[in-house]
Amino acid sequence: MDKKIKTNLRLASVNDNSVKSSTGLKKAELSTSRLTDTDEVGDNNWIRRTHESLLNVLDLSRITSMPPDKARVQIREAATKLLDEANAPLAASTRQRVVKGVENEILGYGPLELLLEDPTISDILVNRYDDVYVERKGKLEKATTQFRDNQHLLNIINRIVSNVGRRIDESSPMVDARLHDGSRVNAIIPPLALDGPAMSIRRFIKDKLSTEDLINIGSMNDAMAEVLAAIVKSELNIVVSGGTGTGKTTILNILSSHIGRTERIITIEDSAELQLQQPHVVRLETRPQNIEGKGAISQRELVTNSLRMRPDRVIIGEVRGGEALDMLQAMNTGHDGSLATLHANTPRDAISRLENMVSMAGLKLPTSAMRSQIASAVDVILQLERMEDGKRRITSITEIQGMEGDVITMSEIFNFTRTGLDEQGNITGYFTATGVVPKFYEKLKQRGSDMSPSLFKPRTITRKAS
Ligand SMILES: Nc1ncnc2c1ncn2[C@@H]1O[C@H](COP(=O)(O)OP(=O)(O)OP(=O)(O)O)[C@@H](O)[C@H]1O
Ligand SMILES: [Mg+2]
Repeated sequence: MDKKIKTNLRLASVNDNSVKSSTGLKKAELSTSRLTDTDEVGDNNWIRRTHESLLNVLDLSRITSMPPDKARVQIREAATKLLDEANAPLAASTRQRVVKGVENEILGYGPLELLLEDPTISDILVNRYDDVYVERKGKLEKATTQFRDNQHLLNIINRIVSNVGRRIDESSPMVDARLHDGSRVNAIIPPLALDGPAMSIRRFIKDKLSTEDLINIGSMNDAMAEVLAAIVKSELNIVVSGGTGTGKTTILNILSSHIGRTERIITIEDSAELQLQQPHVVRLETRPQNIEGKGAISQRELVTNSLRMRPDRVIIGEVRGGEALDMLQAMNTGHDGSLATLHANTPRDAISRLENMVSMAGLKLPTSAMRSQIASAVDVILQLERMEDGKRRITSITEIQGMEGDVITMSEIFNFTRTGLDEQGNITGYFTATGVVPKFYEKLKQRGSDMSPSLFKPRTITRKAS
């Protein structure tokens, strides 16, 4: 054990008063707190007190510069010793949890660690230090996890962002970062966040949802899945449109699984989330500016660069700005089969977003020229929605057909038709073809698809979306 810890612990144990005051583990206080607190709050109290006491006896700078395994052992020994000396009335399992909690406070992300260890959690949303939500299987629930106070939460946020060379403070009060496991973090602090620091974490899930999962969950039906697979294989250009957290990246991942193994794929993302199984993949990620405000590499630069890399397909995680123009140009100049997502609430809205983004590129194109670029580049728009019942659905598969005058014409091929609400407040309805046989059907056939035209017949009920 570290010499300093040893000496300090010994000092503390010689003088009983100093144990009490330095550890903060006062016996009278304990018995009442253990009787009244819930397990978790009780654990948290012990973690806090043991942590505070350890700060007095441990040389933190030495501990944090040690290899993590060694540091954990040191902390574990010191924390166990403190608990022993304070005669902490804890069952063995609680004691283990407390010691682990203290390790997490010193070396990890404190109370977040337990949530991060839970593979069923897909999102962690910290509204306030004492108000934390998690999402499991698409449902949001309140977590019992809490931070001690705003400062505690801020310390953890600081630790996360400084690990990736970023900083958060009053002059730059919002930041995006990524955990080592690939999870995406956004943190925002006062004065922008009015009730104290807030943080949102989108976990990096290894077992992404598959086509079958989406059909079983009721996010689409078999016919839609078949058409989607065929349009990817036939190299149509597809835009996935939806609001935040509607499942755009998940769908992009599923769509990309239909790309052939011999094709060279370049992916461009702000934060690499796609998990492509093909052998020929080059993954590119944008770079935010560093602490001095330098070195940022935008998506636009990456899109331009990707076209010099002899791609068969370019996949853009989320189009947000001027790179839309480069993407459309690429789609129009032989890079068929490109995929991208964007934020919009309807297919028509997706077109307007694209127009806005193209104008962000600074090239003053007349509206009609811009629209004809879009109309000839994009073949299909998938619209995703997270509906009032919390379920995510592909609410529309729409084909862009061309231009009539200055207007882009589109036809919906599949949609989700709502019929009502059941007793539990779930939306009832069904996915159906609209009866329009898409223009791309011919293209699919030319490119080898043997899809039956009966897929496009409207049905009264294809599969009930439960
Ligand atoms: N059809 C679905 N049914 C249930 N859960 C889903 C579905 N699609 C995605 N999810 C889950 O919803 C969460 C958000 O999914 P995803 O990251 O794909 O959304 P997104 O639209 O890309 O989000 P963002 O706007 O933050 O980029 C993930 O946890 C994912 O596992
Ligand atoms: Mg996404």
